[in-house]
Amino acid sequence: MTSTLLRGRLLSFHRAPQDMTDTESYLYEPDGGLLLENGKIAAIGPYDSVKAKSPINTAEIDHRPHLIVPGLIDMHMHFPQMQVIASYASNLLEWLNTYTFPEECRFVESEHAKRIARHFYDELIRHGTTTGVAYCSVHKTSADAFFAEALNRNMLMIGGKVMMDRNAPQGLLDTAETGYDETRAVIAEWHGKGRNHVAITPRFAITSTPAQMEAAGRLAQEFPDLHIQTHLSENHDEIAYSCQLYPDAKDYTDIYARYGLLGPRTLFGHCIHLTEREADAMSDAGAVAVHCPTSNLFLGSGLFPLKALSRRDKPVRLAVATDIGGGSSYSLLRTMDEAYKIQQLLGERLNPLDSFYLMTRGNAESLGLEDKIGTLDEGTDADITILDAAATPAMTLKMEVVTSLTEELFLLQTMGDDRAVVETYVAGHPMKSGLTAAG
Ligand code: GUN
Ligand code: ZN
Repeated sequence: MTSTLLRGRLLSFHRAPQDMTDTESYLYEPDGGLLLENGKIAAIGPYDSVKAKSPINTAEIDHRPHLIVPGLIDMHMHFPQMQVIASYASNLLEWLNTYTFPEECRFVESEHAKRIARHFYDELIRHGTTTGVAYCSVHKTSADAFFAEALNRNMLMIGGKVMMDRNAPQGLLDTAETGYDETRAVIAEWHGKGRNHVAITPRFAITSTPAQMEAAGRLAQEFPDLHIQTHLSENHDEIAYSCQLYPDAKDYTDIYARYGLLGPRTLFGHCIHLTEREADAMSDAGAVAVHCPTSNLFLGSGLFPLKALSRRDKPVRLAVATDIGGGSSYSLLRTMDEAYKIQQLLGERLNPLDSFYLMTRGNAESLGLEDKIGTLDEGTDADITILDAAATPAMTLKMEVVTSLTEELFLLQTMGDDRAVVETYVAGHPMKSGLTAAG
């Protein structure tokens, strides 16, 4: 048995914070110890008490004065869009047609998919992200590369072969039948292998025919434990076109509902422009709205009403994500900075406890995986991120006047990026320090 004892300042949430003064919502241990054994967290507490119960020969790593937090979770990314980031377009549909679809065509090539997968996981680790929920391309080769590399690194990843059978270039289309068959093949090959989870992934209503939506619904019925991921209500032209393609549906959300795709394991990217009826339907179903702030700003899609959705009589479950490559940063710290600014523009406040809860336990709860990831609780997987709020000269200077944990968290989210991530542990193993500079 290999044991490692991490020493540092521990922060882990028990539940969603009610406000900035809600110290009961989290554990903060200023001189903490975290014992890692066989890829799990074996003990957490004050350093002295955890040290006392550590086996002899336990390796010790001193991360003081840094913060030890659960590995960050990114709830919506596109693995084949690493070379789409920073593409100049006026809106979502132009961006998809001009840059994104042509780029995704390249993932039919297995060697290309494998190379990008290596870079993808390097970037996650560099940014302190230990779990990602991702779309692959339509090609099974891309899903194979995505899951094989996750298995190599023993990361808990969720992903799916995209299903899309219309309104895209020929090289990016499956059919209702092949989309179904290949998704089943990906599930058979990868779901439950290592820490991999497969998600049923119809891209969105515009690129799936009714026959394909039906096939996706059949998969959801056959595999009720799997997550479903798709896009919803991101852009006004997208909404109008979707409703035109499905004239019998009450609205965009109802398109997915009609095919059995609206449920507690459905992760809907964006959800910026939901009507009250749609928000009620999401809430009733327990579906998750995944907020992608850097993407929403970059593509000019709109301002996500995060606070308004969470304080409704029927609240909508929320998660946060980068949406690489519509999103412009791999960093969840940068992501929460932009989320904060969006709420500012809407006249709302998003406090730093909210942000750190969302990036960790909140996202894990949205996946129903909080018993495995998203906290530092005993018995959970040892996916851990070490953060330094004085990572740059400007941050060090600001830290001179920081006097509380919440101020430090706010500084991390406002000025932090991959430079603030000192180390990233995956299943108990330090991974960031092993990366080469070029990835
Ligand atoms: N809607 C359908 N596909 C995509 C995508 O790749 N990115 C974003 N941001 N929205 C989408
Ligand atoms: Zn997306």
